[in-house]
Amino acid sequence: MRKVRKAVFPVAGLGTRFLPATKAIPKEMLTVVDRPVIQYVVDEARQAGIEHLIFVTGRNKGVIEDYFDIQVELVNTLSDRGKTAELSLLDDLQPTAGTASFTRQQAPLGLGHAVWCARDLVGPEPFALLLPDMIMQDSEGCLKKMVELYERTGGNVISVEQCDPAETHKYGIVGKGAEVGSGFRVDGMVEKPKAEEAPSNFFISGRYILQPEIFDILSTQEKGAGNEIQLTDGMLKLAKSQDFYAYPFTGRTFDCGSKEGFIQANVAFALWRHDIRHKVFDDLDELMRTVEPQERRTSSRTAAE
Ligand code: UTP
Repeated sequence: MRKVRKAVFPVAGLGTRFLPATKAIPKEMLTVVDRPVIQYVVDEARQAGIEHLIFVTGRNKGVIEDYFDIQVELVNTLSDRGKTAELSLLDDLQPTAGTASFTRQQAPLGLGHAVWCARDLVGPEPFALLLPDMIMQDSEGCLKKMVELYERTGGNVISVEQCDPAETHKYGIVGKGAEVGSGFRVDGMVEKPKAEEAPSNFFISGRYILQPEIFDILSTQEKGAGNEIQLTDGMLKLAKSQDFYAYPFTGRTFDCGSKEGFIQANVAFALWRHDIRHKVFDDLDELMRTVEPQERRTSSRTAAE
């Protein structure tokens, strides 16, 4: 069985739910506690034994490439000042030379198209795909557990979580087949089904191990929902000729592409950290008791008109 050595991070989306911040800052670079969202996802990939990181970037995303580079002046200054703890933190997070690659999606034509843009960098081998705006809080690491399942099953593996059965119309939903190890065989996939038509309430949640045949499918994939080339449409076709397995993730997942999810992630990761947990807990307690909603105002532009 071919090992999963490479991971793809599609970071070329427009991040419209986070305007105006995303006019100038990619949403993947927004900070959760003291590190960008993308760092959490890269950490999860490294915990799973991934050796090569592939970023599909776009216009205005150059700062992501800079973030994963060595900042020579900063390193020299920290070194002159004897800041060994900070130096060692940066060193730990630094990908070694040649283990991070970047390619551009020239227009945000959809997640399926972004994945297809990585085809030459991935080559003919299975790969992990991590949606970088979903961050997962779990000591064992979602992708690591998926790789363990993959080593038992082969095929394709996707992470799933359970949603409110009334909300299946918001997600890609999988049918639950026979249990295998820590997961189950996927028995059908449906994009955004009505509650009464959904085969289960397990939704596809942002981590994938895919076989390279997905690239051939995506190369001819027509635009789907939202007028974008959808990955789920490609996976539905791949599932006709290859097995899919699901790993039900039971840790916490935060959708950092939404304002609420991003704030939850900041609180949850702050409370996870031994160094700041107690202070943050007390501060939140006080804020919850004292902050009232801001008075509603008409905007200054509307008032002047
Ligand atoms: P999203 O749909 O959540 O991201 O795609 P978005 O389009 O940036 O966000 P909104 O809805 O406008 O706020 C999931 C992931 O796929 C990437 C995004 O960067 C995100 O990490 N993506 C999406 C691409 O790389 N290219 C695309 O064309 C679309």
